[in-house]
Amino acid sequence: MTIPATAQASDPYARLFREGYVHRDLYVSEQIFNDEMRYLFGRTWVYVGHESEIPQPNDFVTRTIGRRPVVVARTETGALAVFVNRCSHRGAMVCRQARGNARRFNCGYHAWSFSNDGTCVAIPLRHAYGEDLRLEDHNLLTASRVDSYRGFIFAAMTPDVPPLIEHLAGARDLLDQWLDRDEGQPVLVTAGAMQFQTHANWKTIYDNAGDGYHPPFSHQSMLRVFAKRYGDIDMQYYRANFDESPLLSKDLGNGHTLLDQRPAMHSESAWKRQHPHPSREILEAALIEQFGPERSLELLDASTGSGLNLNIFPNLLIIGNQIQLVEPVAVNKTVIHWFSTKLEGVPDEINAIRMRMQEDFPSFGEVDDTAHFEACQRGLETVPEVEWVNVGRHLKTGVGYTDTDGLWREPISSDLHLRSYYAAWHRIMAAAHPGPTP
Ligand code: FES
Ligand SMILES: [Fe+2]
Repeated sequence: MTIPATAQASDPYARLFREGYVHRDLYVSEQIFNDEMRYLFGRTWVYVGHESEIPQPNDFVTRTIGRRPVVVARTETGALAVFVNRCSHRGAMVCRQARGNARRFNCGYHAWSFSNDGTCVAIPLRHAYGEDLRLEDHNLLTASRVDSYRGFIFAAMTPDVPPLIEHLAGARDLLDQWLDRDEGQPVLVTAGAMQFQTHANWKTIYDNAGDGYHPPFSHQSMLRVFAKRYGDIDMQYYRANFDESPLLSKDLGNGHTLLDQRPAMHSESAWKRQHPHPSREILEAALIEQFGPERSLELLDASTGSGLNLNIFPNLLIIGNQIQLVEPVAVNKTVIHWFSTKLEGVPDEINAIRMRMQEDFPSFGEVDDTAHFEACQRGLETVPEVEWVNVGRHLKTGVGYTDTDGLWREPISSDLHLRSYYAAWHRIMAAAHPGPTP
């Protein structure tokens, strides 16, 4: 975690890190949370949605960048626009719906009106502001940068960010791999979504997505039930020696990381390792009848969980075939959005099977994780005497090495993920902060 010398003198965050540990204040301090919302989410690319959520002109969804409410819209010409959902008059949210189709947004308070790129187009009873008032001085604040990589839309509140491709670093290739399974049919994020709130800091959720240490312990009951009923399938590769298996954790740069379970999950046939899901036999039989056993297996293998936890800092998690969006609400409150995905141009049976598989982990596994998120928050908040959180797995074992793709890899149970993203966290926060808190 190297901080530039010039920043060190005014770096109020250096005290939060020591080798193998991070300070509890990162999870419980309101001051740090407020700084994160302003400086971290305000100074980097943030995931705001997928293009398939707004396919038609004038479609929109509402999201957040940190805590800033924003509207992510496709304008009449098909361009992407991201603007703050904060009226330029008195500050009210001009859009109070989660999604829809609108050419204009009329603020409910005094009816100032904005086009779907944030331009102010009308102010009622305008004469009272005098002749000098110009509508263009009252546009909604727009994100400084908006870009999309193969459907994934990101926005930045400052122009002072590298091009999106550069920011994605090693995650770009992994996104390509995720998108190009089978024949690379377009991914649609319209299959369904679920959201829930947890009493935990947002980083605890980000921590967990790259934590390959917890599955055999946190998800023990799920794994035991599956083993008892179905034998050596699914995640049973998380056994006593899983740390010496080919499963791996990788640093993709800029706080992005990967847990790769493909070496085990996809070693023979991903589909054949899956446990039964509702209507599996009927859907599989229908596919075989239409496409024959070989092609059916190809399609099924390519639609089974991706075997990846691809974590794109700070708020996008791609887990299996799903997309998870982490929305910080308060220092101890986070909303987690799960979006299921389907593929365009594949047989209906494939999308039905994908959906059954995508319902599985959120139902049986996410409950374990959420219980631990809240248990961590409770422990961290209530015991000020114990200040440090351990992030030291495989820090000193010397087993990490540079893989053939040039990326640093360590065993799956490593805390490489936390160390990597905290390095990015520290770099962005220290550079953005104007100086010590008075
Ligand atoms: S606050 Fe939006 S029109 Fe007054
Ligand atoms: Fe988990």
